[in-house]
Amino acid sequence: MRATTTGYLARTARYLLPYTGIAAADILCAFASLGFYFVFPQVTQYIIDDIIGGKRMHLLLPVIAGLAGAFLLCNIFRAIGIMLNTRFEQSVIFDMRNDVYARLTRLPVGYFDGRASGDLMTRVTDDITAVHRVLIDGTEQGATAVVTVVAVAAILFAKNAVLTMYALIPLGILVAGALWYTLSAHRRYRRQRQAIGAMNALLMDNLQGIRQIKAFGREEYEDGRFARRADALRRSTFGVMRVWAVYSPAMAFAGSLGMVVVLWMGGPMVTAGSMTLGELVGFLFYLSLFYEPIGRLHNLNQLVQSGRAAGERVFDILDATEEDSGRARNGTFDEPVRGDVRFENVSFNYDGRGDALAGISLHARPGQMIALVGATGSGKTTLVNLIPAFYRPSGGRITIDTRDIADVPLASLRGFIGIVSQEAFLFNGTVRENILYGKPDASGRELEEAARAANCHDFITRLPEGYDTRVGERGVRLSVGEKQRVSIARALLKDPPILILDEATASVDTATERIIQEALQRLMVNRTSFVIAHRLSTVTNADQILVLAHGEIVERGTHEELFAREGVYARLCAIQNMDLIEEEDERNKAAW
Ligand SMILES: Nc1ncnc2c1ncn2[C@@H]1O[C@H](COP(=O)(O)OP(=O)(O)O)[C@@H](O)[C@H]1O
Ligand SMILES: [Mg+2]
Repeated sequence: MRATTTGYLARTARYLLPYTGIAAADILCAFASLGFYFVFPQVTQYIIDDIIGGKRMHLLLPVIAGLAGAFLLCNIFRAIGIMLNTRFEQSVIFDMRNDVYARLTRLPVGYFDGRASGDLMTRVTDDITAVHRVLIDGTEQGATAVVTVVAVAAILFAKNAVLTMYALIPLGILVAGALWYTLSAHRRYRRQRQAIGAMNALLMDNLQGIRQIKAFGREEYEDGRFARRADALRRSTFGVMRVWAVYSPAMAFAGSLGMVVVLWMGGPMVTAGSMTLGELVGFLFYLSLFYEPIGRLHNLNQLVQSGRAAGERVFDILDATEEDSGRARNGTFDEPVRGDVRFENVSFNYDGRGDALAGISLHARPGQMIALVGATGSGKTTLVNLIPAFYRPSGGRITIDTRDIADVPLASLRGFIGIVSQEAFLFNGTVRENILYGKPDASGRELEEAARAANCHDFITRLPEGYDTRVGERGVRLSVGEKQRVSIARALLKDPPILILDEATASVDTATERIIQEALQRLMVNRTSFVIAHRLSTVTNADQILVLAHGEIVERGTHEELFAREGVYARLCAIQNMDLIEEEDERNKAAW
């Protein structure tokens, strides 16, 4: 989305509305301190002409004392202004940041598939600050600058209209310059913001993959990749600043031309007696007051352009369509949910790709175990991801207890589904916090029961701080098998009627797999479960086995039926050396 400058300002300004009071107080403080500055040239003129010129030196001390007092007051107002401004600024940023974050977590999973986390992070941190910096500085500085310019212009005209006309000659250059800058800056700032996002995206990716970088000895290669992104940021910042470096002094120069012109034209006026020396000095002071805020307005314009580029990135999140939470719909499940899941001719495709699933029909009766097998990439994960509505089917429908899941609020739907995925993800907190994620209000006993059932109580109590041990980012301080068992405990505690196990034991050794299988077996009792297994031995006792190939169900039945059919499933079994595995399976069953 390309935001225009006014569109961007209007949208951001809405965030200021709740704080109009504090903004007004801030502006008042700014005007108060400004007022004292206005007095200064007048007093200077008085000191030169009437006190020094008029040789009334006894007045000098009181006038100077008054001036010092005025400066003190002026700066007290500034101090209050800065405090108000900071409060105003931080409140506005806080509001918007929370809005953006809340929106972000409610976007569909598909939104994140196409974007880098580091880039999204930059939008929530850096970009939001840039978006508001202009409004915060803008409300105060912009307001005072505009008022100053108008007031000073009025004073200048009142003092000497002819001289003022001369003094304002460079104004044309300033206006033209500002216009050119405004129209051309956006492109450069956008490039800069994208460069920051791209650099952070790589940084985040590499920090997550730090073990892989080391294992493959790719430090230098990654140094180079990072350096290129950092260089893109450096160059785009140069691009921004190079123009600013010329533009800003050029505008200052145009402003000082005004002073030169005034001295040139004003000098003869003093000698001709049409104005006093003090008047000329006072006039020059006011003129500097005129051009200084114009410089500030130029600065603000720079912030506007930067903020507008950042705003595009932030609004991209705010404008993205939220996951259809279905809150408006009043469809609910009749409790208790039995867990009767049906797929009716469901098809699905990821954005811009061919069908990942086609013509999927299945019926999982309450308490049944449905196994999904098939080569990698055949669509197993895709299929189970449709049940909690991480993605929406492009055709057909999915029902739970005869109710279309598209008619049920997401929160309610997901409340009945437990997921143990291949890569157990734990949050950076304690073991206890991670298990409680499944049911925040669970009692200590429930927690321990779940942990015991998941075969993780023993290893947890052996950890240095037991349940209060911190697991590190993504749970790095635990082994894969341990993480997996904690995530099973988490699902157990949630106690959902429908369970999804996506290759929950794919990445652990056989001994650990047995422990996990045992836990899973307990977890599956009395629940409808969808089990994706890479090791067929673990699903031989499934009520139905669905064999997927290229997004379609090519075979279905029990292990015995499919084995006898000598089709795809039988071949898969042969590959996995079924004899051995069946033996192992017998032992497994005995162990349970
Ligand atoms: N987030 C995604 N975006 C686009 N395509 C995807 C995404 N996830 C999976 N795919 C594609 O969909 C197909 C099925 O993937 P998946 O369901 O993960 O297979 P499986 O779990 O059976 O190994 C694959 O071709 C894969 O490349
Ligand atoms: Mg998968």
